[in-house]
Amino acid sequence: MKIGSVTLENPFILAPLAGYTDLPFRLLCREYGAGLVYSEMISCHGLVYRQPNTFKMLQTVEQDRPVSFQLFGSDPEIMAEAATILSELPIDLIDINMGCPVRKVTKKGAGSALMKTPKLAEKIIRGVCKQARIGVTVKIRSGWNHQSLTAPEFARMAEDAGASAIAVHGRTWSDGFSGSADRRIIAAVKEAVSIPVIGNGDILSYGDGLKMMEETGCDGVMIGRGAMGRPWIFRPDQPEPDLTLRLTALKRHLDLIATHRSTEFGLAAIKNHAGRYFKGIPHGAAIRNQIYQTNSFPELQRLVNSFNKTLHIT
Ligand SMILES: Cc1cc2nc3c(=O)[nH]c(=O)nc-3n(C[C@H](O)[C@H](O)[C@H](O)COP(=O)(O)O)c2cc1C
Repeated sequence: MKIGSVTLENPFILAPLAGYTDLPFRLLCREYGAGLVYSEMISCHGLVYRQPNTFKMLQTVEQDRPVSFQLFGSDPEIMAEAATILSELPIDLIDINMGCPVRKVTKKGAGSALMKTPKLAEKIIRGVCKQARIGVTVKIRSGWNHQSLTAPEFARMAEDAGASAIAVHGRTWSDGFSGSADRRIIAAVKEAVSIPVIGNGDILSYGDGLKMMEETGCDGVMIGRGAMGRPWIFRPDQPEPDLTLRLTALKRHLDLIATHRSTEFGLAAIKNHAGRYFKGIPHGAAIRNQIYQTNSFPELQRLVNSFNKTLHIT
């Protein structure tokens, strides 16, 4: 799969996940085979006004590539300026968030609210494409609500405005995360444009990702929740997620966190990541409890290393 001048070795892509897709998790998913990884959404205002917390999100290394950094905002000039800043980084693509349903984002006209204002969305895409020295992609939903399933025409607009690929989550803003993703709209977007289309929504296994490509004709698939605590989802050989596989992945994740992040800052987020590796297995809740009770990163690492011998189920 090729997006602009960027060649992906594998059409399975890690979705942008605020609070999750930081550098260590992206590197982990890459090691398991993800062909492209997305950053968390990055505020254009935070970039342009040089806010330290926003700049922390720009951390990347050579092994992170190919990587796409995602921008959100609704002011075309600020978005274009933010694209200039991102273009100076060693990254491969810039994505524009036009799918986020969260109120904090939509009330400012950004994220999925831009699907209600296609003229403004077009201005943003044109401005970002003009400033970016790398390819620009757009991530959308199927529409604002079921009375306006505008994804196909919106995608055509994005292509005309210069986008190199479109990712479509098969739900509307009004769906939030309820129901199931509608694959027909992904197929309709694929029919509507000639740039690559990335299908997204509810993929929980590698096999299901292949099925989405078959059913919709999309060029690649993007996995979000299905990768949280399950980075092996990117492995084409679809291994059985036994305890050994889970522990190996979690230990590697913690090592990558130790290497690339300040570990005490954000301990709650790290514990949240770690707990997810034990979802859906016997005694998972008891194991997660032990994880949540740790008070420092070294204590968490010691606990997880001790799981080799016994699962310490109390
Ligand atoms: C915790 C969480 C954070 C998310 N953050 C972002 C984000 O920063 N940008 C974005 O475009 N979508 C975001 N999404 C949406 C996902 O990228 C994806 O489109 C959605 O979860 C559907 O795919 P899935 O069923 O594979 O999870 C987020 C979703 C979740 C659950």
